[in-house]
Amino acid sequence: MSLLRRLPPVLRALLAQALAFAGLVALVRLGLRFPPLLWVLLQAVLAVFLSRWLGLGPRWVFMQATLPFLVRVLWGAPIPAWVYLLLFLGLALFFGGGLLTRVPLYHASEDAWEKLEDLVPDRPGLRFVDLGCGFGGPVAHLARRRPEGVFVGVEASPFTWLVAWLRCLSLGNARIRLGSLWRVDLAGFDVAYAFLSPVPMPQLWAKARREMKSGSRFISHSFEIPNETPHRVIPVKGRDGARLLIFEV
Ligand SMILES: C[S@@+](CC[C@H](N)C(=O)[O-])C[C@H]1O[C@@H](n2cnc3c(N)ncnc32)[C@H](O)[C@@H]1O
Repeated sequence: MSLLRRLPPVLRALLAQALAFAGLVALVRLGLRFPPLLWVLLQAVLAVFLSRWLGLGPRWVFMQATLPFLVRVLWGAPIPAWVYLLLFLGLALFFGGGLLTRVPLYHASEDAWEKLEDLVPDRPGLRFVDLGCGFGGPVAHLARRRPEGVFVGVEASPFTWLVAWLRCLSLGNARIRLGSLWRVDLAGFDVAYAFLSPVPMPQLWAKARREMKSGSRFISHSFEIPNETPHRVIPVKGRDGARLLIFEV
């Protein structure tokens, strides 16, 4: 049970819907018959119950309850199947990278890029990494302003990576890698920056402390590290509470 609860929420949500569906199919095999609307209602109720059991939060439970009704509404709609496939592929290619890490795609403001600049020492050979670089804004900006440093962005979503890669193509000191930030060895960087979500922060901080050299710097955009006090906090423009939290390793 605790193993199931440790699955990423999206997999737990799928599991809840699949188990609810399997349960209803089993009842039909036993001879019960449900009119379509009752089937949808039962699917929603069972999915909600199983989602709570699997430890999903209120937002997920709400989505679980509405999903069967949405499927029912779209079931007979004259929408060709390839439209769904295209939508799914588009979403996966732009947002897939953050699905398991539970990090959406949004961007730091230009004000944050400017303020990051003050936090990146101006010295030849300095190495900076943006862990989950999105469309590559911070990497491209810093690479232009600090021609003697090396600026690396890592991005897991293929289309997002492609946009960042194209954006940095003409910059000789910027590299955009496709892949997971968890596979990046942070030992080779003087400054690591991340704008992710609260979920991966404890694990990411443990990785930074394990791998980064003493004297290097870890910057989190907006998200705190539980039980750690940042050495400095710099407010930046953007959503409410946007700020850079600076941790000296
Ligand atoms: C909030 S955006 C930040 C974009 C950019 N760093 C900025 O400050 O504007 C987070 C990005 O991290 C990416 N991401 C999430 N999990 C990742 C992972 N495990 N490995 C690499 N990239 C990841 C997402 O796809 C998304 O593009």
